[in-house]
Amino acid sequence: MAKARRELGELMTKVDVVIEVLDARMPLSSRNPLVNELRGERPCIEVLTKSDMADPVVTKAWLRAFEATKTGGRVAAMASSTNQQAEARARIAALADEFGAKRKGRTMRALIAGIPNVGKSTLINTLMSQKVARVSDKPAVTQNQQRVVLPNGMIVTDTPGLMSPNIEDESAALRLAFGGSIPATAVDYEVMAISVGPYLLQHYAQLLDARFKLGEIPENADALLQAIGKKRGFLKAGGGVDTHKAAEVLVNEFRSGKLGRISLERP
Ligand code: G4P
Repeated sequence: MAKARRELGELMTKVDVVIEVLDARMPLSSRNPLVNELRGERPCIEVLTKSDMADPVVTKAWLRAFEATKTGGRVAAMASSTNQQAEARARIAALADEFGAKRKGRTMRALIAGIPNVGKSTLINTLMSQKVARVSDKPAVTQNQQRVVLPNGMIVTDTPGLMSPNIEDESAALRLAFGGSIPATAVDYEVMAISVGPYLLQHYAQLLDARFKLGEIPENADALLQAIGKKRGFLKAGGGVDTHKAAEVLVNEFRSGKLGRISLERP
């Protein structure tokens, strides 16, 4: 943490704009507070990635919430998805121009910050309009950094592996795990499903019903796993429903988008 803070702090001093990449389905859990703490007055573009998988109404509410809390310098928030790359490219370029207006004639420098798996490389590919081809000649300061030069001349530093997910807040960690941002082996499927299940039942009962043909909406997460297991025929050898298998299916169908567009957090 101390090393990440130092490296990120040093990088921040060298950039004009920070592009903070957050998962649209869980913008708070996927946020690393270091970014806001260290960016000072530097302008920040909050990019909510994977918005194709998030609940569009909730994403709009998040964008409004982010734009309303313009603490510490200028902040703009936008959604991005691999379905709408041209829009994301144009919006980031426009915002970077706006934020960097004072730097006439000087190359804009941006830092892309975000936890692993949030979509940083995908966003860089989007900005490049192609798979990352040009990595700048300048050697990166550490192996945790990578620089690319965008077609518009902007230099973007990526920080793969520099920022760790927020695992101190247990419910945030379980949401991240549910979404696949913490390695699957680290957390038990059933633990994830029991933690996120009540929220899904509260906000997305119809989607669960449509996917698993539940008929009656289960009262709690345990009952949900029982119902999914029964519907899918997951039975344990000695009798009873294999709720672990049911949890694994619930998690995987969320991650693959088969459950529909779901946001795990709302402002
Ligand atoms: P990172 O650099 O921050 O670690 O994340 P990266 O871009 O590698 O993206 C992590 C995963 O998220 C990738 O899936 C990527 O395809 C997916 N992803 C990124 N942006 C979007 C988006 O806007 N929409 C959707 N639906 N998915 C997105 P993967 O399964 O790890 O790899 P692959 O599918 O690319 O092979």
